[in-house]
Amino acid sequence: MISISEAATALKSGALVAFPTETVYGLGADATNRAAVARIYEVKGRPSKHPLIVHLASVDALQIWASRIPEYAHQLALTFWPGPMTLVLPRTDLAGDFVTGGQETVALRIPDHPTALELLQSFQSLGGLGVAAPSANRFGRVSPTSSAHVRSELAPHLGQNDVILEGSAPRVGIESTIIDCTGRAPSILRPGFITEEMVSEFTGLAPTKNPHAPRVSGSMKSHYAPAATVDLNQVPLAGDGLIALAEVETPAGVIRLGAPKSLSEYASSLYAALRNADELGISRVVAITPEGSGLALAIRDRLEKASYR
Ligand code: TXA
Ligand code: MG
Repeated sequence: MISISEAATALKSGALVAFPTETVYGLGADATNRAAVARIYEVKGRPSKHPLIVHLASVDALQIWASRIPEYAHQLALTFWPGPMTLVLPRTDLAGDFVTGGQETVALRIPDHPTALELLQSFQSLGGLGVAAPSANRFGRVSPTSSAHVRSELAPHLGQNDVILEGSAPRVGIESTIIDCTGRAPSILRPGFITEEMVSEFTGLAPTKNPHAPRVSGSMKSHYAPAATVDLNQVPLAGDGLIALAEVETPAGVIRLGAPKSLSEYASSLYAALRNADELGISRVVAITPEGSGLALAIRDRLEKASYR
């Protein structure tokens, strides 16, 4: 098996490295290498105008990628990094159009996962400045939460020098919270484990809705979708799959795909449950969405996108 430092060397030489984070698996490339980044789009089958998140080894690297960092963004970075939060900031010249999709902003994140952090630090010690990484799935599909998911979906598209790293399972299971930090107050573009309540508690600012919100591919209506049809909050029929909190009973003939006992377990097991439906050849999944704010809101966001058609 390839070591993390060998994977960092591969990254530095322009190869792609899929790696686990605390949210989902990412498909990484040297964020300053145009050709390597172009291959991410090829492997994912993703439209080239969709911007990528640049993953950093430490908060010090913020200044080289972001040109203007409001006080509240500094506060968020110091409070929640490493962690499941991405900050969108005005870019420096280092952030090329090929990473930002031509936007004047760049998305930055320090993940909280031992394998990801070791990879990023090892890459930095080789002179690397940042690792551009979207979720390691084909465009529009469910994000991977295991190396097996990555392999089954991307292996046919990867090259000889590309690497899939093993590591402990993502503990959060859904993608990072994306926060636009270009305005006077933070604005949440994609909900996640770091909630609006947490953002306002630590910044003293109420998150706003940004009328000029930049483009977020995860904000397109159909996304995170399995091959199966996903219906929300309906009565499952015999042969359907069911994802719901454990307290919800399974009707006769229905295949239980997920029975999480908490919201955090709902989030961390959701994508594996959706993939499982496809593996079992189930054509319709019914999901009973959790109620409330915070993480429940993020889970509903992903389920609504999975159900859109
Ligand atoms: O948890 C995560 O964020 C994972 C792990 C691998 O870090 N990454 C991830 O990447 O979910 P991706 O590419 O699947 O989703 C990143 C989202 C996209 O919806 C993209 O549009 C948005 O971030 N994004 C990137 N740069 C942006 C920018 N400058 N302004 C607004 N949105 C941006
Ligand atoms: Mg994605």
